[in-house]
Amino acid sequence: MKIAVIGLGYVGLPLSIQFARSRVNVLGIDVDSKKVELLNKGQSYIKHVEASAIAELVDCRKFSASTDFSLIKQVEAVIICVPTPLTKNREPDISFIVETGRLIAPHLTRGVLVVLESTTYPGTTDEDLRAILEHGSGMKAGSDFHLAFSPEREDPANEQSKVKKIQKVVGGYSPVCLERATALYRRAIETIVPVSSCRVAEATKLLENIFRSVNIALVNELKLVYGAMGIDIWEVIEAAKTKPFGFMPFYPGPGLGGHCIPIDPFYLTWKAREHGEHTRFIELAGEINTRMPDHVVHRVADALNAQQKPIKGSRILVLGLAYKPNVDDERQSPSYVLMDLLEQRHAKVDYYDPYVPVIKPTREHSQFVGRRSVEWTQATIANFDIVLIATNHSSVNYQELADWACCIVDTRNAMASIPSASGKVWKA
Ligand SMILES: NC(=O)c1ccc[n+]([C@@H]2O[C@H](COP(=O)([O-])OP(=O)(O)OC[C@H]3O[C@@H](n4cnc5c(N)ncnc54)[C@H](O)[C@@H]3O)[C@@H](O)[C@H]2O)c1
Repeated sequence: MKIAVIGLGYVGLPLSIQFARSRVNVLGIDVDSKKVELLNKGQSYIKHVEASAIAELVDCRKFSASTDFSLIKQVEAVIICVPTPLTKNREPDISFIVETGRLIAPHLTRGVLVVLESTTYPGTTDEDLRAILEHGSGMKAGSDFHLAFSPEREDPANEQSKVKKIQKVVGGYSPVCLERATALYRRAIETIVPVSSCRVAEATKLLENIFRSVNIALVNELKLVYGAMGIDIWEVIEAAKTKPFGFMPFYPGPGLGGHCIPIDPFYLTWKAREHGEHTRFIELAGEINTRMPDHVVHRVADALNAQQKPIKGSRILVLGLAYKPNVDDERQSPSYVLMDLLEQRHAKVDYYDPYVPVIKPTREHSQFVGRRSVEWTQATIANFDIVLIATNHSSVNYQELADWACCIVDTRNAMASIPSASGKVWKA
């Protein structure tokens, strides 16, 4: 069997590898020719995707990459994993899906299966994508070609989270579409969870991400409330987590980041309006989570104040640019918001992140492009008035940080295991 995976990013690349390892011939397609070139040389551009895994599959011709969409003619199934961001006005931007649909439609052959994996609002597959594919191919979904939605559940850098082991929800445009999509994923993934429609599958992914966003907002709010009472939220969560049923720990932080949790809930908000419904939980969670960087900046100001220093002119090191520990993905990272807020107050801000040596162009915060991580040395770290821990990478030596830094503002409870640091740590 030969399939195409379109969009070779954090989702599409691991998925391609899993299919290729399952003896499916995989053609990876991306509009980014640099990525295609690297992959065909057996190289990786994602920290937790091993180059050796790619090289092995390229060598045995199970995987190759291309920018040429006409090669779609040769495949039996196409899986779409392109980005789904928000516009500046925080509305869904499905232009990448639309563009992909336009590019593949003329090359679809009879009987081919098209599956969308990008996170999106219910109706994208059977309304928006279907219309584009039918128009561009002159064929009908459900009879001439098959159409399905299956959300990705990638958890980058989580060692336990292997693509093969994560149950895969699949919804089809028709019962036959579902059957075809289920058969495809069975080749590479152990457990498939069929649902009654593409819309149910789309809504499932949104529920999963909204669940996280709302629960993170809850602990972020409790952090402020308990903090005012002199109670440490981290200690409370550790205690609550001993309950063997009905509780699941979520942790506070400096704000939401990444490509999913800050964005996906608003796909539903937008679609709900079309049906005259409001998503109050989602909006409240968004409001609380987006206020977190302001709270952190207040704590930085308090910590500086205690040293008789103003924010203006103070040297602040933001530790961790990636939005979560042990990844190199800094999209939508709250660290950028913190850097921005501190620079607006005329602080002198640098960052340290072993996985982001230089800031690449991003849609937001373009003012930071080209900045480089500082070196991890005693002389450098001791030179800052504050080290602000925004991301708790496990490769950082927190004992050295405790020994070298003069003051630490910790948004991740990263210093909890270093008792000698307690006098200089401000939790935020
Ligand atoms: N990153 C995650 O952990 C994660 C988890 C679950 C779901 N998702 C969802 O999966 C989707 C993809 O996310 P990602 O993190 O892999 O994004 P990404 O930005 O890492 O990768 C997307 C890739 O698509 C390519 N691309 C863009 N337009 C294209 C086009 N028209 N044709 C071909 N290639 C194109 C880009 O060059 C890029 O390589 C999103 O909808 C996201 O919400 C992501």
